[in-house]
This record gives sequence, structure tokens and C-alpha cells, in this order.
Amino acid sequence: MAKIITTASWKGGTGKTTLNTALIRLLAEGGKKVLIIDLDSNCAISQVFGQILKDITSMEFLSAGIDNFKGVYPCAENIDIIPGNIKNVLLNNISDVQLKINLKRSGLGEKYDYIIIDPPGYLGAHTRNALFAADVLIIPGTCSRIDFEATRLFFEEVQQYGLDADTYICINAFNAKTNLPGICEMYQETFGEFLIPDPVPYISSLKKLTNDFRYPLHASVRKRLENYVNYVIGGKNA
Ligand SMILES: Nc1ncnc2c1ncn2[C@@H]1O[C@H](COP(=O)(O)OP(=O)(O)O)[C@@H](O)[C@H]1O
Ligand SMILES: [Mg+2]
Repeated sequence: MAKIITTASWKGGTGKTTLNTALIRLLAEGGKKVLIIDLDSNCAISQVFGQILKDITSMEFLSAGIDNFKGVYPCAENIDIIPGNIKNVLLNNISDVQLKINLKRSGLGEKYDYIIIDPPGYLGAHTRNALFAADVLIIPGTCSRIDFEATRLFFEEVQQYGLDADTYICINAFNAKTNLPGICEMYQETFGEFLIPDPVPYISSLKKLTNDFRYPLHASVRKRLENYVNYVIGGKNA
């Protein structure tokens, strides 16, 4: 049965799509079968994998009948996608557990090792569907004051949902020279054991990876991303 992983926050630019792209790339290279579900109407991750403006999308998966669903598109070895839809913002009146139910009914979980959900940067119906479907939730935040506060408040909010998901906080785009002094300590004090111990550093080539997911990763970059991926898939014992 696929492990369902999402990154979520109620702020844009925290690294959700970037971290998901790195995760998908490394899992697929390691021979794991991955299904991406793009719930963001900006369609950022669909663009990374060259699958935008498709006829059948995550919007149909959430709203229409899922029997014989035709919206799973292959995009690379071991990687398929249910693409995003610009009109997804219009889909507000769906149940928060529709994605969880439809994934179960569709049998897609049996065909993949991992399902990675990329939600938008606000807490609406799509993000709630990602949260309730997930086995693992990663809440990323960069090292700015506003990202720290957004992460803290989002964590507080979703703790009231009684989620099943294992939840991790990830400090993203860490740069010792330019970050707010003491920011990592603030994350550590606030999130304790929920915090992934190693921050994901600021890595300029990650922009190139999200321009083309095949971008060749330098060994040192790969090593840093592997730390993140191993923690996310293996948990604290990784
Ligand atoms: N670890 C990182 N190192 C360098 N740049 C990063 C990193 N994570 C994200 N970025 C950059 O920050 C911006 C926002 O990232 P993105 O993944 O699109 O965020 P979100 O999906 O949360 O809106 C992008 O320009 C991306 O390249
Ligand atoms: Mg995004």
C-alpha cells in the first residue's frame, strides 16, 4: 500500500513544491513507483514534470466519478501524475475527506509505493484534503520571522484536526550567513521532537531542479537531499 506524503503550510514560498520535487526525484531514482497529485491551482509541480493544461485533472478526481479514472499521466520512469487545474480554486464545496475516500475507492494506493500530494499555500478545501489523506505531513518554513510564525500557527491549527499523519516540521533554505540569528533555536524550542533535526540548506541549484526535474544533481547536493528524504520516509529511526 502506498505511503501518502504531503507538504503543507498556509503560506506560499516555504518550499513545498521544491521539497516535493526533490523527494519524488530521489524516490523514483531509487526504483520506487511514485504518483504525484497536484492540488494547487498554480499547477507548479505539474509544470516541473511537463504536464500542464491536461483534459483530466485532480479537479475531476476530487469532484467527478472516479470509476475508470483516466487522469493519471505517465511523466518519467517510475513517476505518474494527476495534474493540477487552474480552475481548482472554484472547487470549494467538497468534503475534507473526499481525496482520502477517492484514493481508497480508485485502488491507486495499490499501484504505487508513494503518493506525493502538492497542495496550494493556503488552508482551503484542497489543503484540508491533502492533510486528511496523508500518512506523513511535512510543514516546511524558511528562516524568516514570518515563516516561523506561519509555521507555528499552522501547526497549532492542524493539531486540532486530530490527523492520523505523522507530522514533521522542516527548516528549509537554511543559510547561516543570511538567516535571522537564533531562528533555528526558535524552531527547536517551539517544535521539539516534531522538528527534523537537520535543516534543508539554501541550495541554489534547486531552482534548476524545479525548472527541469532531470537536472543533474551534484553529489554534495544529493547527499543533503538524501538526509531529508530518509527522515521523511523512515521517520526518527532513519
Ligand atoms: N532549499 C532551498 N534552497 C534554495 N531555494 C529554495 C529552497 N526551497 C525553495 N526555494 C526557492 O524558494 C521559492 C519558493 O519555493 P516553492 O517550492 O515554490 O514554495 P511553495 O511551493 O511552498 O510555494 C522558489 O523560487 C524555490 O526555488
Ligand atoms: Mg508550491
